[in-house]
Amino acid sequence: GAADFDLYRPAEEHELLRESVRALAEAKIAPHAAEVDEQGRFPQEALDALVASDLHAVHVPESYGGGGADALATVIVIEEVARVCASSSLIPAVNKLGSMPVLLSGSEELKARYLAPLARGEAMFSYALSEPDAGSDAGGMKTRAVRDGDGWVLNGVKRWITNAGVSEYYTVMAVTDPDKRTRGGISAFVVEKGDEGVSFGAPEKKLGIKGSPTREVYLDNVRIPGDRLIGEEGTGFATAMRTLDHTRITIAAQALGIAQGALDYAKGYVAERKQFGRPVGDFQGVQFMLADMAMKLEAARQLTYAAAARSERGDADLTFFGAAAKCYASDAAMEITTDAVQLLGGYGYTRDYPVERMMRDAKITQIYEGTNQIQRVVMARNLP
Ligand code: CAA
Ligand code: FAD
Repeated sequence: GAADFDLYRPAEEHELLRESVRALAEAKIAPHAAEVDEQGRFPQEALDALVASDLHAVHVPESYGGGGADALATVIVIEEVARVCASSSLIPAVNKLGSMPVLLSGSEELKARYLAPLARGEAMFSYALSEPDAGSDAGGMKTRAVRDGDGWVLNGVKRWITNAGVSEYYTVMAVTDPDKRTRGGISAFVVEKGDEGVSFGAPEKKLGIKGSPTREVYLDNVRIPGDRLIGEEGTGFATAMRTLDHTRITIAAQALGIAQGALDYAKGYVAERKQFGRPVGDFQGVQFMLADMAMKLEAARQLTYAAAARSERGDADLTFFGAAAKCYASDAAMEITTDAVQLLGGYGYTRDYPVERMMRDAKITQIYEGTNQIQRVVMARNLP
C-alpha cells in the first residue's frame, strides 16, 4: 500500500519480489546477455522466461488479468532484469509505456480488448510518439489522422520505436487538428501490427541496448475503426505526457539496475585482482571510488522510489519527480558504469568482461523518454 512507500523503503513483499526476480534473471536471462549484445538479437529467452513467470507486464491491473503490481514493484522487476541485461528490461518497461495511454485514458472496452492479451503474454505494446523531425519537440509531429466515415486514416512515419516489429499493439500519437497542435490538436490511437498499411524500417545499429529492436514504423493509409481512439479526440498530447510522467520512472529503474550490475561486478573484481602484492581493493583510492559509486546509486534509488510512490498515489508533484528520477538515475548510471570500467583497468575495456556493455547500455538512459536536457525543461516548469 501507499504507506509502505512513505518510508522510501520497499516493504517485505517488495523485497521478496526482488529476490525472486533476481534468481530468475540470473538463471534465465544473464547467461544470454553477452551473446544478445554481440549478435544484436532479440532476447527471446528473456521474453519466454518473463512470460512464464508473469513478469513481462506486471503493471496490468488484476481486473484485466494482470499481476496488479504497484509502481514500486514494477520498478523492482525492471531493476533486477536490467542488472543482468538492459535490453531485456525494455520488455516490461515498454509494455508499461505502450499500454499506459490505454490505462490512463482508454474506454473500458479498449482496456479489456488490449490489456488482456498483454497480460497473458500473447501481445506486446509499443509507444510511438517520436518522429524523424520531432524528438524533443514531440508536439512538432507530422503524422496525421483524418476522419473517414466512422473511422480514421493514419499517415506518417514514427521513428525510434522500441520493440517495433515484435509488438502486436502500438499507441500512436497523430495530429487531428493542425491548428491546435499540443493544445487539443493531437490524438492517441491503438494501431495493430496487422493493420493494412503498417510496416517497419530496418533495425537501427546502436551503441548499446543492442538486443532491443529500434525501428521506424510506417503508416501508409492505415484505416482503423473509430473505437481505436484512446480517450477523447484532441487529448492525445496530454495523454502522452501523463504517460511519460509515470514511465520515466521505469527508465530510472533501468538505470539503477545497470549501475547495480556494474557496481556488483567491480566490487567482486577488485577483491580478486592483485597488483603490488595485494588485492587492488585494499587501496584507499579504489575504496573511495566504490564508496562514491554506492553513494550515488543509493541516492538515485531513493529518488526513484519516492517518484514511484507519487506515481502510485497520483500526486500533483509526479511530473517533477518522474523527470528528476530519470535524469538523476541516468546520470548516476553513466558515472557508475564508467567507473566500473576504470576499476577493471584494461580488462574492463574488453568484451571479455560485462562492464563495457553496461557502460554502453547506460548511455541510452540519458537520451530516451526525453533527453536529460528536456528533463530539466520539465523540472523547471514544474518546480515543487
Ligand atoms: N500532464 C498532463 N498534460 C500535460 C503535461 C503533463 N505532464 N505536459 C503537457 N501537458 C499538456 C497540457 O495540456 C499543455 O497545455 P497547458 O500548458 O496549456 O496546460 C500541453 O500539453 C502543451 O504542453 P507544453 O506547452 O509544455 O508543450 P511543449 O510543446 O512545450 O512540450 C515537452 C513539452 C516537455 C518538451 C514535451 O515535448 C516532451 O516531453 N518532449 C520530450 C519527448 C519525449 O520524452 N519523448 C519520449 C519518447 S518515448 C521513448 O523515448 C521510449 C523509450 O525510451 C523506450
Ligand atoms: P533532438 O530533439 O534532435 O535533440 C538533439 C539535442 O538537442 C539533444 O542533446 C537535446 O537534449 C537537445 N535539445 C533539444 N531541445 C532542447 C531544448 N529545448 N533545450 C535544451 N536542449 C535541447 N521514441 C518513441 O516515441 N518511442 C520509443 O519507443 C522510443 N524508443 C527509443 C529507443 C532508442 C534506442 C532511441 C535512441 C530513441 C527512442 N525514442 C523513442 C526516441 C527518443 O525519445 C528521442 O530520441 C529523444 O526524445 C530525443 O529526440 P531526438 O533524438 O530527435 O533529439
